[in-house]
Amino acid sequence: MSVIRSTVTGCGSYLPEKILTNDDLAKMVDTSDEWIVQRTGIRQRHIAAEGEVTSDLALEAARRALESAGLEAGDIDTIILATATPDNTFPATAVTVQARLGITGGAAFDLHAVCSGFVFALNTADAYIRTGLAKRCLVIGAETFSRILDWEDRTTCVLFGDGAGAVVVEATEGEGTNSDRGILTSHIRSDGRHKEKLFVDGGPSGTGTVGHVRMEGREVFKHAVGMITDVIEDAYKATGLSSDDLDWFIPHQANKRIIDASAKKLNIAPEKVVTTVQLHGNTSAASIPLALDVAVQDGRVKRNDLLMLEAMGGGFTWGSVLLRW
Ligand code: UT7
Repeated sequence: MSVIRSTVTGCGSYLPEKILTNDDLAKMVDTSDEWIVQRTGIRQRHIAAEGEVTSDLALEAARRALESAGLEAGDIDTIILATATPDNTFPATAVTVQARLGITGGAAFDLHAVCSGFVFALNTADAYIRTGLAKRCLVIGAETFSRILDWEDRTTCVLFGDGAGAVVVEATEGEGTNSDRGILTSHIRSDGRHKEKLFVDGGPSGTGTVGHVRMEGREVFKHAVGMITDVIEDAYKATGLSSDDLDWFIPHQANKRIIDASAKKLNIAPEKVVTTVQLHGNTSAASIPLALDVAVQDGRVKRNDLLMLEAMGGGFTWGSVLLRW
C-alpha cells in the first residue's frame, strides 16, 4: 500500500564560536571540572556572542540543512522552529529565519516544548506532511539558553549551552512497512503537574521580565529515565521493532548518566548511542539535531539506518521519533 512518509533529506547545525570550559566556570561559581564531569559528563559548552541571537544560530543551521538536502530556500513551504529562547516575545523567531532565507510564501511558526521541542516539531512536521498540509518542512531546534541562566546559580549554569540544528523533512512515497525511509512512528506526551520542577521564573505575562532557569535537578532526574523508556516502548509497540533493530540511539543530551541509564534499561548497546553532551552541554531543543548532525558528518549515520530520537524536558514534556534515514 502506498503511503506518504516524512523523510529527512538533509541536516545541518551551528555552534557559536566561544567555548566555555568547566575550568572557566570554576572561576565563576563554586564548582569543579571533576564535579561537572562526574555528575553530567559535560566538559564544555558553546556560548553565543554578545548580540548573537537565536535566529542567527537557526539561520546558519537551516542554510547548512538546505545545502545538504540540495534544495533552495524557496522549496520550503513550512518552517517549524523549536525554541524556549526566542529573539523576541513576538514575532516568532521562525518568521525572522523565513525572511532572512528570502522565503515569502508558506508558513513559519515557533513551537515551545523546551528540551523536547525538536521531537515535538518533528512530530508536527510529520503530521503536516502525512495529511498533505506540507510538502517540504524545515524543522529547526535553536537556543541561546545562556541568556536565561542565573550565572550565580551553580546548580543550573554549568548544565546548559547554546546552539542550533536543523533538518529538511520532505514528503516521499513509502510502502507502509518498516523498511520505508522516513518517520515510521512518533509519540509525544506532556504532564503539566511537574511545572515547578523545571521552569523559568519570568515571562511577558507573569512578571514582565525574561527570568532565569530554575530546576530541581534530582527530581527531574528521577522522572527522566521512566518517561524516556515509556515513549520508546510506545514506538516499539506501534511498529513491532525493538532495540535490537536500532542502528543509532540519538537522545536529548542533558546528562550522560540519564543517557546511559536509559540505554541500559532499553537494552540498547552502548556503541549505538550518540553522545555529544560532553562537547555541547544541554542545548535544549537544539541538542538532538546537533548530535544527529555530528553522527551524519562523521559517517556513523548512513542511508537506511534506523534511528531512535528521544527527549524529555520542562513541563514535563517528552517524546520519541523512530525514523529510517
Ligand atoms: O533537559 C532536561 C532537563 N534537565 C535534566 O535532565 C537535568 C536532570 N538532573 C540532573 O542532570 C542532575 O540532577 C544534576 C546534574 C542537575 C545534579 O546531579 P545530582 O547527582 O542530582 O546532584 P544533586 O542535585 O543531588 O546535588 C549533589 C550535591 C549538592 O550538595 P549537598 O546538598 O549534597 O551538599 C549540591 O549542592 O552537589 C552540589 N552541587 C554542586 N557542587 C559542585 C550542585 N551543583 C553543583 C555544582 N558544583 N555545579
